[in-house]
Amino acid sequence: MEIKAAVTKEKGALSIEKAELSGPKATEVLVKIIASGVCHTDAAGIQGFIPWVKFPMVFGHEGVGIVKEVGSAVDSLKIGDRVGLTFPSCGACSYCLNEAPYACDHVNELFFSGAYKDGTFRIRQNGRELGSFFGQGAFADYVVVDARNAVKIDGVTDEKVKYLCSLGCGAQTGAGAVLNRCKPEPASTLVVFGAGGVGMAAIMAAKIAGCVKIIAVDIVAERLELAKEFGATDIINAKEIPDVAAKIKDLTDGGAHYSIEVSGVPELSLQAIQCLRRLGTAVVSSVTGPAEISVVIEPMIMNPSITFAGLVEGGSNPQAFIPRLVEYYKAGQFPIDRLVEFYPFEDIGKAFEDSHSGKVIKPILLFD
Ligand SMILES: NC(=O)c1ccc[n+]([C@@H]2O[C@H](COP(=O)([O-])OP(=O)(O)OC[C@H]3O[C@@H](n4cnc5c(N)ncnc54)[C@H](O)[C@@H]3O)[C@@H](O)[C@H]2O)c1
Ligand SMILES: [Zn+2]
Ligand SMILES: [Zn+2]
Repeated sequence: MEIKAAVTKEKGALSIEKAELSGPKATEVLVKIIASGVCHTDAAGIQGFIPWVKFPMVFGHEGVGIVKEVGSAVDSLKIGDRVGLTFPSCGACSYCLNEAPYACDHVNELFFSGAYKDGTFRIRQNGRELGSFFGQGAFADYVVVDARNAVKIDGVTDEKVKYLCSLGCGAQTGAGAVLNRCKPEPASTLVVFGAGGVGMAAIMAAKIAGCVKIIAVDIVAERLELAKEFGATDIINAKEIPDVAAKIKDLTDGGAHYSIEVSGVPELSLQAIQCLRRLGTAVVSSVTGPAEISVVIEPMIMNPSITFAGLVEGGSNPQAFIPRLVEYYKAGQFPIDRLVEFYPFEDIGKAFEDSHSGKVIKPILLFD
């Protein structure tokens, strides 16, 4: 069928064009996109910072929509289901089989190469194959996705579901770092470095988990003020405080139990370690590219029994975790709708600009 897609033919390019989408294979579904979130990982891909990405590509990996056609082997979804699209996974490696699809052996190919798990493509233009980022390519009015990365969203209207795009990536990443990886005991202390879309979701999740002290670190005063509305008990403006780790130790009686780094700034991974108490856990989740930090093993990690953990997509098994987040949303405990600004699909360039400048935390493109 003919679709309208934002096509990236070369580094930095983004133009809305017609293309051909093939129908779903046995394990796949065709989805009419209602709305699609803009994530910084799209920008990183478009700008050529992700080595696995090949052009031409249709980016977009936070789609929500309605199932229009179902492959012969799909029994988890039916026509008319409302779905949130999320990251792909192979379903066959030892990690996928152990409910850890975020650690799938094939993450790099499936997230970034634009090909589906059988190595083929779904979008064509003038006889040329186009990649579908994250097995979605959700900057388009229709997509074909594997049923593994389409999660049924129940009990939310079309009007509301468009606020939930980031469940597929950003919000899941932040909330999952807290609820899946840290699993803080009630009355724990937790620090979030970076109060953007991912960080705000982490703050909301820390409140859900019952943390007594939730410290937000950022360099933008308005974001820190907003973080307080979502559950931050303390805020640190890193522009004004010279030694952030020391300040956190002061606020937490010797160090936090948990820290989460979701700023996209590699050096903050070091602060995420330095702000912890003994037995603490730092989770890093935002670095793109070959960034390095220098850690002195014995005094910084081994002796204080620190866990330094990396994580993608919030360590989520999306078929279980996204419905859980939807329930928190419906109960008013996960208000990610407050981070959103809508744009018509045609204004995709403006949406990226506003994401890049920080004017908008979560731009969402709307389709007719
Ligand atoms: N690993 C994953 O699975 C995954 C998934 C989604 C996003 N990400 C990545 O996570 C990162 C955060 O995403 P986002 O959408 O929340 O981005 P964002 O830009 O909305 O948030 C980043 C925040 O960090 C703050 N910041 C910048 N420099 C800082 C500093 N020196 N000290 C403190 N705060 C600082 C910014 O002001 C901003 O509020 C991005 O790099 C994104 O690519 C990773
Ligand atoms: Zn796998
Ligand atoms: Zn993303």
